[in-house]
Amino acid sequence: MCGIFGYLGTQNATPLLLSGLERLAYRGYDSSGIAVAGQNNDLKVLKASGKIENLLKLNAADPIEGIRGIGHTRWATHGEPTDINAHPHTSRLGNIAVVHNGIVENFNDIKKMLKASGHNFKSETDTEVIPLLIETYLKSTPSLEEAVRETVNQLEGAHAIACISSNEPEKIVVARKGNAGGIAIGFGDNEVFISSDMAALVPLTSKVAYLDSSELAVITSNKCRISTLDGKPIETKIHQVDIESYAVAKGGFKHFMLKEIMEQPEAATSVLRGRVSFSPTKFMLPSLPFETKEIQGFSRAIFLGMGTSIYAAQVGARYLENFARVPASVENAAEFRYRDSVLDEHSLVVAISQSGETADTLEALSEAKSKGARTIAITNVEASAITRIADATLLMHAGPEIGVASTKTMINSMIVMYLLASYFAQERKNFSLNEVESHVHNLSKLPALLGDAIENALCTVKSVASKYAQSKRFLFIGRGLLEPIAREGAMKLKEISYIHAEGMSAAEIKHGPIALVDQETPVIAIALNNPLYEKMITNMSQVHARKGNVIAIATTKNSSILNNADDVLWVPECPESLQPIIATIPVQMLAYEIAEHLGNDIDQPRNLAKSVTVE
Ligand code: AGP
Repeated sequence: MCGIFGYLGTQNATPLLLSGLERLAYRGYDSSGIAVAGQNNDLKVLKASGKIENLLKLNAADPIEGIRGIGHTRWATHGEPTDINAHPHTSRLGNIAVVHNGIVENFNDIKKMLKASGHNFKSETDTEVIPLLIETYLKSTPSLEEAVRETVNQLEGAHAIACISSNEPEKIVVARKGNAGGIAIGFGDNEVFISSDMAALVPLTSKVAYLDSSELAVITSNKCRISTLDGKPIETKIHQVDIESYAVAKGGFKHFMLKEIMEQPEAATSVLRGRVSFSPTKFMLPSLPFETKEIQGFSRAIFLGMGTSIYAAQVGARYLENFARVPASVENAAEFRYRDSVLDEHSLVVAISQSGETADTLEALSEAKSKGARTIAITNVEASAITRIADATLLMHAGPEIGVASTKTMINSMIVMYLLASYFAQERKNFSLNEVESHVHNLSKLPALLGDAIENALCTVKSVASKYAQSKRFLFIGRGLLEPIAREGAMKLKEISYIHAEGMSAAEIKHGPIALVDQETPVIAIALNNPLYEKMITNMSQVHARKGNVIAIATTKNSSILNNADDVLWVPECPESLQPIIATIPVQMLAYEIAEHLGNDIDQPRNLAKSVTVE
């Protein structure tokens, strides 16, 4: 949610800032801007609403140059995505520029105070108070560093900011407070890059330092000095990053989302690597610091997440309860953090966040930790903020995911939770040796099954999508482990097609939603061969009886499904525990093909962003 990029060195900053912002565009893409210190160190600002192409055009028409600058790509929170509301925001004299991620929760109070002392506001944003406050503090504090520190300490909420001033031309000051997105500082030869995430630094450097919450850094072209927000110096730890794992390109695919769907068999192989052994058969999670005794002592587990990560968590909680017999529940992280939950050291809290940056999830996890729970983060981004909160991290190893709609990270988070539940079942002695063997065997088949599911979908999804793309709404239904996949299917469709969709337990439909069923409301029924299959058939016939079109997702060769469905998307036969993972493929591909049929911007759908770093 919003991307920050900065440069300080010997090259022209503008093209570096613009290409950095292009790489960060998935974090927010409703407007963008840069501030560059030109000759005489005067700050020149360019801002444009809409996608970064508009900013590129503006710069092409009247280029700005300089060896130091900051940039921002925005996902609007306060004020519409207009040119004026785009970042950077500047001080009254125009000598200080700031880019910001987060929400200034006390901005009304600060704004009132600044207005009373004669400041006028140009934008409708909360961010504009920041350069104005810095300017005010500079009257009484000796340096930009101190003025930024005072300012950030005055801001309520979570923030990441970068600031330049024409009065202290040799530096950029950055600061982080709470969880409003990261700040990665990349080091080149006499040049330094600043970015919201490591992925955007990949073409430039592999040497990086991360700013933690409540830290501030003063960056010059060959030095980075970090301190806490209360002024204590901190050693700068420079990490050498494996940049190959960040490789991102669309290849021959029209969209990142399609490429990421196709990568799922390979991503599934990566997540299993080093975590299952075939001889002897066993589960291994070396990054978990819990002794067997502690694992045996857990009395409950709570899974936290938002959006797609909650649906993955709903599958994961069922795995843990079914396999390891640990009572498990799932909570929306944003609600959990404000609920005074009862936790102790026998409670396990597992937070799922592909980005590792979702503010709601990070805060909920911190809350759980402060109450004494043991915590695990499941994330796709190594060294992301969530990994610094949790006691342990399980990486998804899905590779970079650029499409805003999560696909391979959903699949890989379910697989990680399958592994976690199996490992717990092994350590708690809920699994016999035969059961360990059979689960290892099932997982070993998973990459190939995902490949088959993709092949099947390629044969049928396009024609089903074009048949139903003009529908006014969709309902998705499923039972048991497939209920969360019905919810995920509805979410995927809403995100990229903008068609209203709801996902639910098939049992629920007769309690109200069936009133929506008509000839323009197709019902996607996930009806795979499992113990709840007959129940699903009953629910599907209730829909059929009301003239609703049923699109079944069914197990190959189950031709009897045709008695209860108008169209069928086939998936390969697989063990029941793998069904949610396999059934995710057709719902992803259906959403993709409908959005493609409608000509939508699939990788950057309207109003959304990949990392949601604000509340
Ligand atoms: C998924 O397609 C969505 N983009 C969104 O719901 C996402 O899952 C949610 O914002 C949580 O993100 P996270 O996994 O990065 O925490």
